[in-house]
Amino acid sequence: MTTTTAPEGTTIHVPLGDRAYDVRIGAGLIARAGAEIGPLLRRPRVAVVTDANVAEAHLAGLERGLADAGIASSALVLPAGEATKCWAELARCVEWLLAAQIERRDVVVALGGGVIGDLVGFAAAILRRGVRFVQVPTSLLAQVDSSVGGKTGINTAQGKNLVGAFHQPSLVLADIGALDTLPGRDLLAGYGEVVKYGLLGDVAFFDWLEVNGPALAAGDAEARAQAVTRSVQMKAEIVVRDETEQGDRALLNLGHTFCHALEAATGYSGRLLHGEGVAIGCALAFELSARMGLCSQEDPSRVRAHLRAMGMKTDLADIPGDLPDADGLLALMAQDKKVIDGRLRFILARGIGRAFVADDVDPALVRTLLADRLAAR
Ligand code: GLY
Repeated sequence: MTTTTAPEGTTIHVPLGDRAYDVRIGAGLIARAGAEIGPLLRRPRVAVVTDANVAEAHLAGLERGLADAGIASSALVLPAGEATKCWAELARCVEWLLAAQIERRDVVVALGGGVIGDLVGFAAAILRRGVRFVQVPTSLLAQVDSSVGGKTGINTAQGKNLVGAFHQPSLVLADIGALDTLPGRDLLAGYGEVVKYGLLGDVAFFDWLEVNGPALAAGDAEARAQAVTRSVQMKAEIVVRDETEQGDRALLNLGHTFCHALEAATGYSGRLLHGEGVAIGCALAFELSARMGLCSQEDPSRVRAHLRAMGMKTDLADIPGDLPDADGLLALMAQDKKVIDGRLRFILARGIGRAFVADDVDPALVRTLLADRLAAR
């Protein structure tokens, strides 16, 4: 994995053999999209899929950027929100791409956050048994996590991301300027995934976030670019080691076993955004690790202190409305994709930056932790 820096931004190369690609990070990439995407094209046209909110903020800019390089485009605008990651919208997207006569050698552009990236990536994976796609992530969460690594898919009645495919993008354009139009709550939710990288594998990055996180949240473009760059480097390193999650890639799920249960418990609604659930889940994973004697008691306190300083949710008490009891939350965890032979898989930590995969966690310990945190509500 190499990182290069030029005046127009940083490029991280993700070396995955014939599926290798670049992630570009910088300001103004949407305006330069035609010059960036052009070299991938065999004919000067692309299909763009986005959502209604992102379309309002960025579609015209992307279309101009493409047209500047002589690239024609047509666009499909889907409803915004997690509910779009469903069979019906997938079918609509695929049918539209077929009607637009997108061929095997063409490129589909996913312009948006994690929902659009996952849905459009999956549509590209199954369209004509696989067409190339470019991720143009516009949310912090998508820039640091979901646009890199090739996980694509949709949700079903049984749970999140249960249907999908590994399909790597051909290019990722993370335009830091797009973060300026994000609502503050969405930006902070994405920051949950940024913190996750420090917590799982880079204590120096966590130290840096403790100092620079507030500036990042306030709009400092340099801090944002540095945080996205370090997050993507860490994600790319892990994906290159373990593309299809046979081992190390599971580290990226720090906080996610708790998070997925909390998202299910809150009906995947605005009560809890995914990145908020990740932040709470990371705090719980460190609390569990401390209770198991794996890390010091100071570590979960330090995690919660930073999240609180950033104005983020840190605990079950911060989730509005009713939650199931501890057994109900445990039952929701048992639905998680990470369950193997009925055993819950957690990502635990021996300290900040020292996460590992644990398959042998006693459910009674998790139940007690959840019961304690629920009692504190
Ligand atoms: N978001 C976790 C992964 O890409 O593996």
